Amino acid sequence: MANLVLENLGKTFGHGEKTVTALQDISMQVGDGEFAVVVGPSGCGKSTLLNIVAGLEPETEGQALINGRRIHGPGADRGMVFQSYTLFPWLTVRKNIEFGLRIKGIPAAERAETARRYLGLVGLSEFENALPSELSGGMKQRTAIARVLANKPEMLLMDEPFGALDAQTRLQLQDLTLDVWSKENATVLFITHDIDEAILLADNVYIMSRRPGRIVETIPIDIERPRDHRITLTPEFAKLKGVIMERLWKEIEA
Ligand SMILES: Nc1ncnc2c1ncn2[C@@H]1O[C@H](COP(=O)(O)OP(=O)(O)OP(=O)(O)O)[C@@H](O)[C@H]1O
Ligand SMILES: [Mg+2]
Repeated sequence: MANLVLENLGKTFGHGEKTVTALQDISMQVGDGEFAVVVGPSGCGKSTLLNIVAGLEPETEGQALINGRRIHGPGADRGMVFQSYTLFPWLTVRKNIEFGLRIKGIPAAERAETARRYLGLVGLSEFENALPSELSGGMKQRTAIARVLANKPEMLLMDEPFGALDAQTRLQLQDLTLDVWSKENATVLFITHDIDEAILLADNVYIMSRRPGRIVETIPIDIERPRDHRITLTPEFAKLKGVIMERLWKEIEA
C-alpha cells in the first residue's frame, strides 16, 4: 500500500505562445489502500495527472509524493493499466505476465507460479499459452491487469482501462477489479468518464474542472463493501450519481 500527496501540482506543455496549461494547482491526498477515482470533462488533464504520478511526465509546478518521497520517474512501486491493450504480441499470455518478473531476475519456476496465480485471479488459467491476438478485448485487459499485479505494485494507476470494452465486459471487469483490490491491498488511482463506474469502485470520487484541471470537489462514497454492480440499482447510488452529474455538468457547460 502507498499514499499519494499532490501539492499545488501544475503542468504546462509547450513553450512561448503555444503553451497549454493542462493542470493548475491540484492538491489531493490519497490514503493507504484508498480506491481513488478521478472524473472530469474530456481534455481536462486526467491522463496528464496520471502520467505525472506514473513518473512518465514531469510536473511544471508543485510536487507529487508517494509515501512522502518525491516522484522523479517510473518505479516498481507503481503499475499502470492503459485504455488500449499494451501486451507484447509475440509473447504468450503467461510470458506477458512474467515479463516484469524476468527483468527483476526472478527464477523461471517462481515466475511461472506467480503468473499462474494471477491468471487464476483474473479467470484466464486456460489461456496461459494463447497469444494476445487470440484473445478478446476483455481478455487482453484481464491479462494487462494480471501483468501489473504480478509485479506487486503498491499503487495501481488505471487510465480508463475499460473504456474500449463493451458494456457487459466492462461490468465483469469492474467486479473483478473490486475483488482484486480487496485481496491485494493496493492503493488505486483510477480515471474514468463513466460515473456509474466511478461510484461503484471508489472510496472517494475526485471531480476535476475543465482545463486547466483542478480538483473542484471530493465526494466520499459511503456505500457498504463488498460491492458489485447490483448497487447501481439502489436509491443511495442514484442520489450520488445525481450529485456528481450536477457538478460535472456545471464544468462542461461553464
Ligand atoms: N504531450 C503533450 N503535449 C502537448 N499538449 C498535451 C500533451 N499531452 C496532453 N496535452 C494537452 O493537455 C490537455 C489535457 O490532456 P489530457 O490527455 O491529460 O486530458 P484528459 O482529461 O485525459 O482527456 P480525455 O478525457 O480525452 O482522455 C489537452 O489540452 C491536451 O491537448
Ligand atoms: Mg485521458
